Order: sequence, then C-alpha cells, then structure tokens
Amino acid sequence: MKTGQILVQMILKQMPYLKKILPIILPFSLTSANDVDNLISNSVQSYGLKQHFTNQWAVQIEGGDPKEADKLAEKYGFINLGPIIPNSEFFLFENRNYRKKSSRKARSIQMSSISREPKVLELEQQIAKKRVKRDFLRAERPSSSLPSEDYFRQLYAERNTIFHDPQQYHRYGDYQDLSNGIDRDILHTRRRYAPPNDPFWKDMWYLHRSEESEGEMDHNVKEAWEMGYTGKGVVVTILDDGLERTHPDIAPNYDPMASYDVNDRDDDPTPRYEYTDENRHGTRCAGEVASIFNNSLCIVGIAFNAKIGGIRMLDGDVTDAVEAASLSHNLHHIDIYSASWGPDDDGRTVDGPATLTKIAFERGITQGRKGRGSIFIWASGNGGKDADSCNCDGYTNSIHTLSISSATEKGNIPWYSEACSSTLATAYSSGATGERMIVTTDLHHSCTKSHTGTSASAPLAAGIAALTLEANPELTWRDLQHIVVRTAKPVNLRAGDWKINGIGRNVSHSFGYGLLDAGAMVKLAKVWQTVPEQRKCRTSYPAPYKTIPHGNRLHLQVYTDGCAGSPEHHVKYLEHVQAIVTLNAPKRGDIQIYLTSPKGTRSTLLAKRSRDTSRTGFRDWAFMTTHNWGETAYGTWTLEIDNDGWDDAELLKWELVMYGTDNRTLN
Ligand SMILES: *[C@@H]1O[C@H](CO)[C@@H](O)[C@H](O)[C@H]1NC(C)=O
Ligand SMILES: *[C@@H]1O[C@H](CO)[C@@H](O)[C@H](O)[C@H]1NC(C)=O
Repeated sequence: MKTGQILVQMILKQMPYLKKILPIILPFSLTSANDVDNLISNSVQSYGLKQHFTNQWAVQIEGGDPKEADKLAEKYGFINLGPIIPNSEFFLFENRNYRKKSSRKARSIQMSSISREPKVLELEQQIAKKRVKRDFLRAERPSSSLPSEDYFRQLYAERNTIFHDPQQYHRYGDYQDLSNGIDRDILHTRRRYAPPNDPFWKDMWYLHRSEESEGEMDHNVKEAWEMGYTGKGVVVTILDDGLERTHPDIAPNYDPMASYDVNDRDDDPTPRYEYTDENRHGTRCAGEVASIFNNSLCIVGIAFNAKIGGIRMLDGDVTDAVEAASLSHNLHHIDIYSASWGPDDDGRTVDGPATLTKIAFERGITQGRKGRGSIFIWASGNGGKDADSCNCDGYTNSIHTLSISSATEKGNIPWYSEACSSTLATAYSSGATGERMIVTTDLHHSCTKSHTGTSASAPLAAGIAALTLEANPELTWRDLQHIVVRTAKPVNLRAGDWKINGIGRNVSHSFGYGLLDAGAMVKLAKVWQTVPEQRKCRTSYPAPYKTIPHGNRLHLQVYTDGCAGSPEHHVKYLEHVQAIVTLNAPKRGDIQIYLTSPKGTRSTLLAKRSRDTSRTGFRDWAFMTTHNWGETAYGTWTLEIDNDGWDDAELLKWELVMYGTDNRTLN
C-alpha cells in the first residue's frame, strides 16, 4: 500500500468525519466515499488479523521435554506457561518485558538467538484474533417474572446438600437400576414423559410443539428420552466466555474436569461479571445442553443427565494457542466441545484455524474419546445481513466440525443465517419479530427467553449429540456425521435451494440435510455399525494457471477414479469433499465458485460477498461441501469460477480432495 494511503488511514482513524470531504481533496485514486470506507475497513481488517501481537510465543521444542522447555525459557528470559496441547512439542512462553499487545512483531537478539537453538523447531509470536460470539446483544434484563436472587440462593444451598446423592437428581435415565434386567428398551419405549415442572418448559416449543400442533416439527427429543437416553455418562463442554457453574439449574451437572479458565489460567470458568452482562453467552449455551429436569427451575436441558463444563477462553486475547488449548482440553474426558463463535461474520473476513488449532483438531479426532474422535459442534455464523458465506470461516468449514445452522419457529431462513455448503444440519433458534426464541439459563442464577442466533442452535445440537453418544458410545466422529445426514428432516423448512443429490437426499445450503431429529438419531445409533476407516484421495487440476476474465466464467473439469490404484487412498463412497483453491482477484468478493460432482450435484462453494473488497484472493483455501455425502466419487468433477469484478482474476491452483470409504456398511 502506498505511504500516502497509510497516512490517510491513520488520520481517518482519528477523525472519521473527514471521510465525507476526503474524496474531494484526495490526490490519488479514491473516487467516492465508498472507496474511503473500504480503505478504512481494509485497515481495520489488517489491524485485526495482522497487527495485534501479544507477548506470548508458541515454541516447538524437539522431543517435547518440559525440563528442556523450562531451561530454554530461563536462558532467554521467558516464563514457560507450559504445554499448549497436552503431550505435544508446543509450549507457551511469555515475555513480561514486552507490552501485552503491540502492533509490531517483536524482533530482537533474544528472539533470533532462541530460534537458533538446535532444539527449537518453531517460534511463533501469538497474534490476538478477532473472534465474535454468534448471538445478538440487546440491552435486555432477565425476565421479570423470576423469583428473587435470594430465592435462588436459598434453593441452591438446599440443593447443594442433595446434589451429592445421585438417587435424588438422577431420577431420570437411571432405568438400568430399576429395570431388574428387563431390556431397557422394552421398558422405555412405553414410558411417557409427563410435562416437567420447570417453569419455562412451556416456552421450549422447539422440543415438544409437534405434540400440540399437528404438522409442526420439533427436535423430537422426547422420543429419545422415552427410550431412556438423557445424556448420562456423556461429557459436554462449552468453549466460550465462561460458565456460571453455581447456577442452580446447572450446578448438579457441573463437571470441573470438563472446565478450565484459559484466559486467567486457573480451574474456575466462572465468567467475569460486568454491568452489561456481556459474558453471559457461555452460561446461556450450557443450559440448553444440561439444565436439570423437573426441578421447578428455569428450563430442561436436552441432555439433562449429561455432565457439563465450560472453558473460559473468549474473554481475553484469542490467540492460536488459546484456541488450541481450549479445543484439546482434557480430550480423554470430554466427549463433545460446543463452540458458538468464530471469525467476524462481517462478509469480508476469510479466516480459519492456524497452526496449533489445526493440530488440536487433528488430535481431537484421532485421540479424543479413546480414539473414536472428539465431537466438535460449531455454530455456522450470523453474517446473513452482510451476505457472508460460512465457507469463508475455516472452523465451520472444517471437516472436523459438525456445522449447524438455524431455522426460525416458522421454518424460515433467519435473517442472520449464512448459506454455505459445509453446513451439515439445522437446529431451531430466533427469527423475525414475533417468532419465539430459545429459552435457557442466564447469569445471576436466572433464566432468559431470548437466546438468539446460530449461537443458540449449536448447543441444541450438542445436547442431541450427547443423547446419541449415550445410545451408542462406540460412535466415531464420522459415524455421528453419517447419522445426522441420514436422519435430519427437511420437512417444514422453507428455502429456495432444496435439491436432491446424487444419492436421493434432499439438501440445502441454508439448512444442510435439515432439522436434527433426536429420536431418529438415537434409534439409528443403536443399530449403527462403525463406518470403515476414512480414506483421502487428492486430485490436482493438471494445468492450474488460468485467467478468469472479468465478467466471465471459467469451467474446469477433472476426472478421477477415486485413487483406485492405491488402496490406502481409494475413495468410492464420499463423505466430505474439498476444493482447495489458490487465486488472485482484484476484489475477492466478486468471485463465486461452484463444484459439480459426477452425479450432477452442484454445491455453491462461495457466493458473492459484496462487502469483501480484499485484494489478497485465496491462498490454499479448502472450500468444503457436505452435499455429495454417499455419492460415488468416480467420474468428472466440474469447478466453475465466476468473476464479476472489473478486472481479470487468475486461478493458480485447484485441488480436489475427496474423503470417504472404499465400501459401504449398512444403508
Ligand atoms: C416432577 O416432580 C414432581 C414433584 O416434585 C412430581 O410430582 C412429578 O411427577 C415430576 N414430574 C415428572 C415428569 O417427573
Ligand atoms: C425437499 O425438502 C423441501 C423442504 O421440506 C420440500 O419442500 C421439497 O419438496 C423436498 N424435495 C423433495 C424432492 O422431496
């Protein structure tokens, strides 16, 4: 960027009103107020993504010996904060002589000497990233019909005495003990759940409305409960801004082993209380999963006998190390990690997991849950208003996350919803004025009727996943995704783009395969046979350099036999498919990308994002689609790239990566 432009940016940051008159006086190519806006936004973006250096470093030490790490830290004046991911070679070093945050990368003799140490493989200064919660802030206080705080306090004190007696609060889900050897299922399919006495049960339309009004869908959780599945034995954690672990509707299920405070580096995830209650998000998400059943308080969690924890990690600088530590926390104990946040949903950000976080995901799916794979549930994003695409969010677009979008009470696409091909399925949430929202626990031992956004959908999915894992603890992370694909229901969800894919499933970019159906998931889980090992087949487009003329479309085709010649890579039946793309474009938001499978299923990998004015293009971005799930891989794949911009773009790389199996199990 020209020095002049940088100067203008600096001035504009101080005096934003100047931008009205600037286009008149500026000497270079800024022609409208809009251009100046874009200049500012680009600068904000680079500040957010490039320039908030912290005083912490991730240091990879060969062999991962903690003593070696201590020695090196001391030698160079760092404090060793310990391993970032358990049993890995990565340690977090802090240097208190540096400012906590700086716009400049630290360069010093100390840095260059430590990086020359033979055991130091990698040294990376940690950058604070912009990460946003996926709900909507409103200046709203908890519902006024609530009992007083004293009431809750007293109740909590009373409950504390009975919490430790499992007979008292695990009345539900303990059928094994009651059934005296009778087959659980015979007993449970007959059991009917009477409405519990939780005062907000009546407002939990998304769990039980199909009983009341013919033809309307809910998440069908009562069917799973009636079969005896309530989340018992399953551990869920909420990665967020903290968890009010003393909340009386959560406390009996609180699991300290599933909790940690990454921000303050201690064991207590209790949120930081502010008069705005801005750190209420994690507590709201947690209640949806594991609030207590029939305790005259608040709501009922979908997996009300699951254990629930909180990882406090959003209330501070979110660095790669913070994300990685959170996603790999106690991975042998925690089954499900639920995340309702991500990079800014502003319609112009392209950002995803960095080095350590990628390692954390890999660890999770290979080592978590005794090797069956941690379950990472992700909220797809709230950038609908800014025409954002969730495929530009590398977390929700990852094959390792189970990405969840929202539907409104009436079955519409919510105004905040982002359409993209990586969304697997949908859970209800807030919608237009007059449509009901999600009720859940809130800070100060209270409850709220207004939890919103895709933030509210992901924890519902986490709760349903907990019921499913209880029904079959052997399920791998991929089995769970298979079960979702096969059981989600498009019924009642209105979108213009529903289409039947090559294996006969109805799929949409707004809703994935449809609404999660807990009863159907649990039933299928019980008879499920683990899918064969995941295979990965890569096919590169042979002559990658191509101009994409402005106002034009580029068509590229590759043929693949699914790597049939190499048994360990051979993919016949597809799961996730990625197109890894590198391209340059004068305006990134003018590019649209579509991928069509040999069976004719066309996924929108990238829709137009008018706010994305970045000139950086895409570098090895893995656009993912779930829409080919179950199709056969063999044949010709077509990539189409539209360039609606004023100048040519160029494609430098297209690689097709297919994941799946070489044979099919049941169905
Ligand atoms: C809820 O608890 C009350 C007593 O506190 C009990 O009478 C009622 O049967 C319970 N309801 C359910 C659905 O378990
Ligand atoms: C796909 O689902 C949508 C939404 O429920 C429905 O309107 C449409 O008819 C379905 N398509 C087919 C072919 O079943």
